Amino acid sequence: MAFALLLSLAALATVTIAAPTTVCPDGTHVSNAACCPFIPLVSDLQNNLFQSECGEDAHEVIRLTFHDAIAISQSQGPKAGGGADGSMLLFPTVEPAFFANAGINDSVNNLIPFLKSHPSVTAGDLIQFAGAVALSNCPGAPRLEFLAGRPNAKAAAIDGLIPEPQDSVDKILARFADAGGFSPFEVISLLASHSIARADKVDLTIDAAPFDTTPFTFDSQIFLEVLLKGVGFPGTDNNTGEVASPLPKGSGEDTGELRLQSDFALARDPRTACFWQGFVDQQQFMMDSFKAAMSKLAILGHSRQSLIDCSEVVPVPRPPVGKHASFPATTSPKDLQLTCKKPFPSLTVDRGTQETLIPHCPDGGMNCPPIQSSGPATSAD
Ligand code: HEM
Repeated sequence: MAFALLLSLAALATVTIAAPTTVCPDGTHVSNAACCPFIPLVSDLQNNLFQSECGEDAHEVIRLTFHDAIAISQSQGPKAGGGADGSMLLFPTVEPAFFANAGINDSVNNLIPFLKSHPSVTAGDLIQFAGAVALSNCPGAPRLEFLAGRPNAKAAAIDGLIPEPQDSVDKILARFADAGGFSPFEVISLLASHSIARADKVDLTIDAAPFDTTPFTFDSQIFLEVLLKGVGFPGTDNNTGEVASPLPKGSGEDTGELRLQSDFALARDPRTACFWQGFVDQQQFMMDSFKAAMSKLAILGHSRQSLIDCSEVVPVPRPPVGKHASFPATTSPKDLQLTCKKPFPSLTVDRGTQETLIPHCPDGGMNCPPIQSSGPATSAD
């Protein structure tokens, strides 16, 4: 009898209690009602802004997640800025006008209408959520955490808090530490974002100059290509914050590769060079590290406990294209400028006389068909 009682107690103990769910107006089950407003926001952003692509509009919003969030300072106090608080969208004539934010107004103008059409979503939530949705369109990107509930900013941030490409490594590391206690490793992790980046404002004579040969896929080419010897400039050669790139000549209508002075310096500085090199051809490590650092960046100015986890509403990203990092055609291991003493991975060299952009869609094209979206994804990263 006692044995039977014990058995039934043990059976009870192993019953899994299902997490409580809320049913949103569209029928989707979520863990918290606060996550419901983000379900229609996904399809609105994908259909009306990003076209489910890792293109210019997606890149710009991902950059905006950084520029909104990093505007906070532990040493200068709350008046300097509120971090990830949406102040970029709420004071659109103030912060976007700062020189370090050049080009950010495209993403600000693109997102402001979504504030009106999704009135229960705050500006800080909109920026970070839109960034996570944008990133999901980039093959190889991690599925970012998304916590909801950032109150709206009450004031714009001050000028001088956004790192600039001409800043020294000392200044960049100090700025990230002051903003949110970021370590040098976390700074380099965040720069995986430059794998999907192109510049319009560094050299005003050229548009959309890519930082690596694969600006539409979240891969580790950026970490390899910034370590290569610079040989020239894609446009003019006296721009602030720019140094020579290894692939200055584009093909067809594409401009050549542009290299930021800050990426160059961080890739070679003794404090960060091994972290930089450590991401070369390490897709999963790079994804995990970026995701972890973004979780910190996205909530600057807020306590984690005050926010609600709505990560389940972030779309599952396109998978990596499955290609190893490789030396672009016309470059080779001899061009590496390594200051980290650790072994460098053995990589192949692409064939050809000139590097061209690598197609990123399953059909080999550059414009992928939209992803079918049917509510929050359930599979793991
Ligand atoms: C040392 C820190 C950083 C510096 C100095 C820096 C600087 C820059 C500059 C100068 C551009 C080109 C803008 C233009 O001319 O259009 C750029 C682009 C970009 N940055 Fe950064 N950045 C830094 C960190 C970050 C971080 C942490 C993120 C995101 C988490 C980020 C995301 C991007 C993206 C996605 C673009 C491409 C935008 C586009 O293609 O339109 N950056 N960055």
